[in-house]
Amino acid sequence: MQDQAVIIREMVEADLPGNHQLQHLQMQYHLDWLGPIDYEWIASEACTQRTRNFIENDDHLAIVAEQGENPVGFLLGKIAPNHPTSMNKMIGELCSLFVHEDVRGLGVGRQLCERFNSFCADHGIGLIIVEAASSNFPTHEFYQRLGYKDYSVTMRLQLADDD
Ligand SMILES: CC(C)(COP(=O)(O)OP(=O)(O)OC[C@H]1O[C@@H](n2cnc3c(N)ncnc32)[C@H](O)[C@@H]1OP(=O)(O)O)[C@@H](O)C(=O)NCCC(=O)NCCS
Repeated sequence: MQDQAVIIREMVEADLPGNHQLQHLQMQYHLDWLGPIDYEWIASEACTQRTRNFIENDDHLAIVAEQGENPVGFLLGKIAPNHPTSMNKMIGELCSLFVHEDVRGLGVGRQLCERFNSFCADHGIGLIIVEAASSNFPTHEFYQRLGYKDYSVTMRLQLADDD
């Protein structure tokens, strides 16, 4: 499996079950960001429909990385409204990115992001944002290698214990 080339292509309906498994794996990186994960929701039709929206909407992008028959990565992104006071009325929002650990370090994440960059440029978008957990340092480095810069801090106040 390791020797086979990784192909990047647009996601289609038939990819949804395989993508669902990758989204499940991705949750381990969101544990200290989202708190307890609602795995039932990830298994639900609502989650599948959310991903399907990225396939079906013209201002959304869903792409997969595939090695042989196996899905090994994906990116979900969309064109979204910016803060109304900004001159950049619309921005690219990189919503979700995951590369399976078997194929990390081979440029797959970079290729997925570059495909999203092109999608945004084709839509006349000049700015892309992505949010990552402040503890996810390796991912910060990854985005910095791709040219992203820190620009804001999200803070939160825990008012009650998680269930
Ligand atoms: C972050 C992630 C997408 C990187 O994917 P990848 O395919 O391994 O990354 P690439 O091989 O394309 O690396 C691109 C560049 O980033 C650097 N990079 C990648 N992972 C890195 C890491 N963990 N630490 C430091 N640099 C890293 C590479 O060295 C490379 O630099 P170069 O091209 O200048 O030589 C992948 O590790 C992942 O899915 N992580 C878990 C999920 C996650 O955190 N997703 C993001 C949520 S916002």
